Amino acid sequence: MKKFLIALVMAVLPLAASAAGGAKGHLDHMDVDLHNKASLQRGMQTFVNYCLGCHSADYMRYERAAMDLGMNPELVAEHMIFGDQKVGEQMTIAMPKADAAEWFGTAPPDLTLEARLRGPDWLYTYLRSFYADDSRPWGVNNAVFKDVGMPNVLAPLQGVVKANCSWADMNAHGMRGDGIDPLTNTPLNNCSSVVKGSGELSPEEFDNVVYDLVNFMVYMGEPSKLDSQRIGTYVLIFLFLFFFLAYALKKEFWKDVH
Ligand code: HEC
Repeated sequence: MKKFLIALVMAVLPLAASAAGGAKGHLDHMDVDLHNKASLQRGMQTFVNYCLGCHSADYMRYERAAMDLGMNPELVAEHMIFGDQKVGEQMTIAMPKADAAEWFGTAPPDLTLEARLRGPDWLYTYLRSFYADDSRPWGVNNAVFKDVGMPNVLAPLQGVVKANCSWADMNAHGMRGDGIDPLTNTPLNNCSSVVKGSGELSPEEFDNVVYDLVNFMVYMGEPSKLDSQRIGTYVLIFLFLFFFLAYALKKEFWKDVH
């Protein structure tokens, strides 16, 4: 009995742990679309331009991404590789981990599997939730990652975001509020405002850039998913056709038995 109880506790323990990790605050939802090649290509462009300076993607090769996303590997080598790497190599970076840890407090983690670790909604919200905070070393804080060690690298696009609520409020309701008031047509609990003229993009355009980027990160976390979905369709078509063949064969075999 004792052994059984221990086994039971061990079995439900992971559930309790994941429940504890579930308190993430408000997350904005995004619908991942791995069939949207144009979105994935734009996402990769943003990734190599804005993220690969600090974060590596050690388990992804440029060439693999080029093939999967329908890009010419030579063009990828020309426009997306800024170091002296070859297109067949992994998306590594030159920044030594130890130096990075000293500069930022924490070394920027490898991002190949990040989308599987955090999920697309979290990433989508995180990258759009930086706000100005003078008490932090980089002058920014983040509504889903308190006291984050990463600067707001997308600020030139998004602009400077001023927070109008406490961190706890922003975390609970999101930066842009949790819905639109149907009567006044204004955002409810809107906790942020972008300083006019400080960014290149409008909030909607910026959302699209981050959407594409996270879409790409989801692809990167599981590149074979594109293949499995394509093969899966053929398998289902085959099974559908095979059903009729098998049924006809069964009829033929049993014809004389009765
Ligand atoms: C200037 C260096 C730098 C750049 C450029 C940068 N980051 Fe970061 N990033 C960091 C650091 C440092 C951390 C660790 C923060 C911490 O743990 O407090 C981090 C953390 C993260 C995390 C959270 C990791 C986790 O799960 O704990 C994500 C996600 C992330 N970065 C995504 C990105 C993306 C996407 C880009 C490109 C748009 C990017 N970063 C560009 C430095 C950078």
